Amino acid sequence: MSDLNLQRRQLIRGAAVGAAALTSGALATTASDSIDAVFAGDDINWDAISALYPKQKPFTNLDNGCIGPPIRAVQEKLVDAYRFANENPCYNLFEKLEVTFPEIKVRLAAIGDCDPDELALNRCTTVGMCTAILGMPLKAGDEVLLSHWDYPSMINAWKQRAARDGVVLRFVEFGLMDDDDAVVAAYTRAVTPRTRAMHMTHMIHWSGRVLPVEEICAFARPRDIRTVVDAAQSFAHVPMSIREMGCDYLATSFHKWLSGPIGTGMLYVRADRIEETWPLFPIWEELPGADKFGMSNLGTFNSAAPYALADAIDFHNRIGLTRKQGRLQYLSHYWVDRAQKIPGFRIHTPMDHPKLGGLTAFSIDGVPVELIEKRLRDDFGIQTRKRTPEGFAGIRVSPQLYNTTAELDALVDAIAHIAKSG
Ligand SMILES: Cc1ncc(COP(=O)(O)O)c(C=O)c1O
Repeated sequence: MSDLNLQRRQLIRGAAVGAAALTSGALATTASDSIDAVFAGDDINWDAISALYPKQKPFTNLDNGCIGPPIRAVQEKLVDAYRFANENPCYNLFEKLEVTFPEIKVRLAAIGDCDPDELALNRCTTVGMCTAILGMPLKAGDEVLLSHWDYPSMINAWKQRAARDGVVLRFVEFGLMDDDDAVVAAYTRAVTPRTRAMHMTHMIHWSGRVLPVEEICAFARPRDIRTVVDAAQSFAHVPMSIREMGCDYLATSFHKWLSGPIGTGMLYVRADRIEETWPLFPIWEELPGADKFGMSNLGTFNSAAPYALADAIDFHNRIGLTRKQGRLQYLSHYWVDRAQKIPGFRIHTPMDHPKLGGLTAFSIDGVPVELIEKRLRDDFGIQTRKRTPEGFAGIRVSPQLYNTTAELDALVDAIAHIAKSG
């Protein structure tokens, strides 16, 4: 067994060593020290939370559904860890930073409500979803259900699978404003005796609509239909229990709503699906549980990023998901309620849905979304994102915890201006 192989085996089993193994002075500080003051009382001071994040420039950032920046303390932790790694790369990466990963998985499993052995750390949702889509055992003629609202690279991953292996793709039809029952009916009605997999996006990235994946997975399970959930936008954003969801695969990125380091994510694979699933890349070595799909088998990676996740998780836990979703819901209602008074303004997200978060989409009658996006950025200094899948045209607005009501007032003023002048 090579040195590297041996080291990695040791570290996978070395959860007990954990953070205690870190000896570098550069790594001794924690993000928690700098944020203690913010959590001193019972109430959260959102302005103080805002001050923990890096100042966004040159634009007001209302595009956190794309990438949400980590708080400064997490960035500092990452940069310190990266410097530390470079002092002695193989030793410091494998024996100092990576030994914390098992503990990080335990903490992520607590947020997602699953077994840590069913989690693999990786770079992002795309890696996790492609592992599931390309790696689950399917044969020619097997049918897969998905929707045109799913993320384009996932649809294309399925198209690649169809072209290579002859699986048959069937697209489910529903509207983004349809109620939950209609969405469940759209998936369940499309099932045939040949359906072997269902792909669902938990929170639709175009508009923030959350799908009732629990009901759909409950329908699929007794029929031996594998379920794959794209949770890029929902993890650490709206309530979610993987256990209750009952899916077979779920993937997410931490650089969106967890405020984790850019380039961190995870894949969940249900225990009884691990053995039958091919990893995305041929493995370096056999590893227990879902680690087969994780970092050590994905080639060399910058383990400073997942190492710094620990502080992003601390921050998330100290706020708590209920308070976090509550604040993001408040921000969504804050600007949409004001914008609803603007003639021609149209919202494309069900605002009374219990799983509403910080991600919504709007349009203005008669004004192309390309122009709205451009004017918001160039004339008003506000970064949003136009979303134009077939059959939909909207501007996605996605504030994070650091965004202020003053920034949202500026957004509403800008929308009113654009609605008037075009
Ligand atoms: C629903 C959904 N899936 C997947 C992705 C891809 O995420 P990543 O680039 O982090 O892999 C995104 C990114 O916005 C997304 O919104």
